[in-house]
Amino acid sequence: MAEARTIGSLPVANVQALAETCNEFKDQVPERYVRTEASSEEVVTGCDSTSAIPTIDLSKLLDPLSSSEECVKLVSACKEWGFFQLINHGVPDEVTRSLMNDMVEFFKQPLEAKKAYSQLPNNLEGYGQSFVVSENQKLDWADRLFLYSRPVEDRDLRFWPTQPASFRHSVDVYSSEVAKLSCLLLEFLAKGMGTEPASLVGIFENQAQAMRVNYYPPCWKADQVLGLSPHSDVCGLTILLQMKDVQGLQIKRDGKWFAVDALDGVFIVNVGDTLEVLTNGKFRSAEHRAVTNTNKERISVPMFHYPCQDLMVSPLPEFVKDDKVRYRSTSFHDFFTQYLKAKLDGKNNLERLKLE
Ligand code: OGA
Ligand code: NI
Repeated sequence: MAEARTIGSLPVANVQALAETCNEFKDQVPERYVRTEASSEEVVTGCDSTSAIPTIDLSKLLDPLSSSEECVKLVSACKEWGFFQLINHGVPDEVTRSLMNDMVEFFKQPLEAKKAYSQLPNNLEGYGQSFVVSENQKLDWADRLFLYSRPVEDRDLRFWPTQPASFRHSVDVYSSEVAKLSCLLLEFLAKGMGTEPASLVGIFENQAQAMRVNYYPPCWKADQVLGLSPHSDVCGLTILLQMKDVQGLQIKRDGKWFAVDALDGVFIVNVGDTLEVLTNGKFRSAEHRAVTNTNKERISVPMFHYPCQDLMVSPLPEFVKDDKVRYRSTSFHDFFTQYLKAKLDGKNNLERLKLE
């Protein structure tokens, strides 16, 4: 993906280091991190059936006896929420565990060791930040490591940590499992919508995949900061793995934020802007954000699945039937470039394409 290699983010302080002093000395949170909106909007917590995102069971999708019924649930999750938890996803425990362990170990290292993988000017890969485009914009309470993981020949190993020693291998194995899984989910999504699976799968199969590792340090004034600004993902499907038992992700629905549980062994899957456009808005790319905790760090690892950069992103004919075209077309290259060049701002990048 050429785009992320020509666009950069302004350099900012390392948040993990900042958080250590701020928490130890109970310092005020620096002004650039203070977000008034963080605590002013309603948040729904708890996980009764009305407030939890839907759970989809991949083993049921794969079983001919339960497949159609589970497919209906899958489609409805993507229409109503744009998010679901995936259980029995088939990626072996040792694969997800080693990935998360290696991420934890990476961030535990001294700052100087991590800085060996720092972003370079005009390049979003590596350790640092993204979406910082002006000197006065509010900042997120997090550090990130962003890497292109697929296709394999596009990896830029300068930014791939060699410590812990298993890091590269863990990412390699995990990225391949998750890429397969994303195609399988697209296949069921197409089936569930009564369209030819090849229509969706063909757009994403063997295309680019990127991994963002979000490190959210604790903040003793957690309600004053945001770990990740409200946004939607620009890609097709995102598959996210998070540390167990530490909440942070919140999803916006009907004007409220819904907190997502952090269960062990499940993936959080969400529809990105590109998939919303391709399905003519049948599937929702939901706005989401991450909050931080007062005394626990949190790590999340979303994997983003992109189409080919030459793709003209526009509603597919089979999703427009009996409807009007709801989005103008754009090349994925332009859509992605606009996304990377601006600060994260809800669903703004997608709104620009809406016809009405
Ligand atoms: C992202 C994202 C959520 C989280 O990185 O795009 O939405 O829980 N992360 O960290
Ligand atoms: Ni996201």
